[in-house]
Amino acid sequence: MVVVEAEAKLEAVDLEAFYGAERVLKRLRIPLVQGAVTAVIGPSGSGKTTLLRCLSRMHELTSGARVQGAVLLDGMNIYDPAVDASAVRRRVATIAAKPNPFPSMSVRENVLSGLTLSGIRAQDAESIVESCLHEVGLWDQIKDRLRIPATALSTVEQQQLCIARSLALRPEVILLDEPCSVLDPMATARIEDLMHDLRERYTLGIATHSMQQAARVSDHVAFVLSGELIEYSDTDRLFTRPSDVRTEDYLTGRFG
Ligand SMILES: Nc1ncnc2c1ncn2[C@@H]1O[C@H](COP(=O)(O)OP(=O)(O)OP(=O)(O)O)[C@@H](O)[C@H]1O
Ligand SMILES: [Mg+2]
Repeated sequence: MVVVEAEAKLEAVDLEAFYGAERVLKRLRIPLVQGAVTAVIGPSGSGKTTLLRCLSRMHELTSGARVQGAVLLDGMNIYDPAVDASAVRRRVATIAAKPNPFPSMSVRENVLSGLTLSGIRAQDAESIVESCLHEVGLWDQIKDRLRIPATALSTVEQQQLCIARSLALRPEVILLDEPCSVLDPMATARIEDLMHDLRERYTLGIATHSMQQAARVSDHVAFVLSGELIEYSDTDRLFTRPSDVRTEDYLTGRFG
């Protein structure tokens, strides 16, 4: 069967990442397809977080860390010296595992914080707050409490708020690193539903330890082991007919 791949919005090409002399990603080629969720799975230490950070020009912020190879965003190498890293970080948003709203700011200020920090004065601040909170499914429950501190929200609401905050900068790609790792099953379901909705308008990448989560939310899966891409495939296929024995061993819990 010939599988015709949809066009990649963001694509790692021969991507290598180093911490000092240690090479932790080895010539990865992974596409993130537009309008889909790509899950990166693999045991702890396999390089999932490092990969996501390389895709958004965050890796280089770690002292001694560097990248080799390319990451193409709409075909443009984000590591080209002429490219502005902060512009890339606006187009490729990252969401941390543990919700990290600014504690001294209100819900409203948090949504607008990316714009404020980038020096952008939004004419239509109120409508941005409304549309971003709407997009993450928080508006109805929170519209009368926009001025309460962000930290007064429940953990899952804080995670939704962090996603709303990134949406205010109108990203094209959203990368989520274990976004449910501190959430209970109900809250996890809420974030998974949200990812499902968001993929219609954005390109999503998620790192997860949970194979069940990858199976539920993703369209494509990349299995990474010790910094190497072992297998990239449609989600159904990877879980039902993995082509590499190491994928099968991981899926069946033989390691990791
Ligand atoms: N700041 C750092 N300095 C040096 N080495 C690092 C640093 N961060 C990560 N590493 C190493 O890079 C490799 C990949 O780590 P990474 O955190 O990307 O893996 P991961 O798949 O996200 O793991 P986990 O599932 O535990 O989150 C590991 O060997 C790790 O020890
Ligand atoms: Mg990680």
